[in-house]
Amino acid sequence: MQATDFPDPLPQHVAIIMDGNGRWATERGMSRVRGHVAGVQSVREITTECARLHLGSLTLYAFSVENWKRPSTEVRYLMRLLRVFLRRERTTLMKNDVRLRCIGRLDDLPAGALKELRRTERMTAGNTGLVLRLALSYGGRSEISDGLKAFGLDVAQGKVDPKDVDEETLRAYLYDSETPDPDFIIRTAGEMRLSNFLLWQLSYAELYVAQVCWPEFKKEALWKALAAFGERHRKFGLSPEQGGACKSSRSIS
Ligand code: FPP
Repeated sequence: MQATDFPDPLPQHVAIIMDGNGRWATERGMSRVRGHVAGVQSVREITTECARLHLGSLTLYAFSVENWKRPSTEVRYLMRLLRVFLRRERTTLMKNDVRLRCIGRLDDLPAGALKELRRTERMTAGNTGLVLRLALSYGGRSEISDGLKAFGLDVAQGKVDPKDVDEETLRAYLYDSETPDPDFIIRTAGEMRLSNFLLWQLSYAELYVAQVCWPEFKKEALWKALAAFGERHRKFGLSPEQGGACKSSRSIS
């Protein structure tokens, strides 16, 4: 492979809204589910590339709380794809030192998919490379409301004093408080929406919209996105003199 210049530092945590599977398939005269099948190839390639680049975490929006309202045949197909993906990818995840974690209302998933997911989480728990987080039956508002419910119960039981609450206290009630917030959010297929994804965690993430649909988003498209990240000046609300920029680059072959 040719050496490519990457921004240094690279984002530590990339989150992706994988959009456009249906459009990709429809434009080619295929059924929507063929788009999801093609989308799995991109999941595989992007995960492998993020592991190779030593990114800390990759979060993929694989199924939202709203997606349950899609036609039942599509939902069933997606759940089957998830189960098969988990079963087939374990060897590759182990080889690439990738740890799987999942966020969302996981109890809503069919028993078979949940079983494969828990098995893969257990098997990869000792891996120390990339953390691959799949957001499944996930919604940003559900995450916050689930967290507040748990918080309210702890207050009622006298475990927490609401007077002591700050942002870090609330973060502890989110689905995964260990993984640092994404610093880069990519959405494919040209849409400029967050669609209820990581509403708390994306506060300071840089946003990048790729025009290509998810099945076409392969490593070259990821490199292009990472190069764009390198051009951003991240200020975190500070003045230009105080704010840092990431403009240097490093070569990875
Ligand atoms: C959005 O495209 C995509 C989804 C709702 C599902 C994403 C699923 C995959 C990439 C495959 C399965 C994932 C794993 C991890 C095994 P869309 O259907 O909304 O596309 P459209 O906007 O063009 O209709």
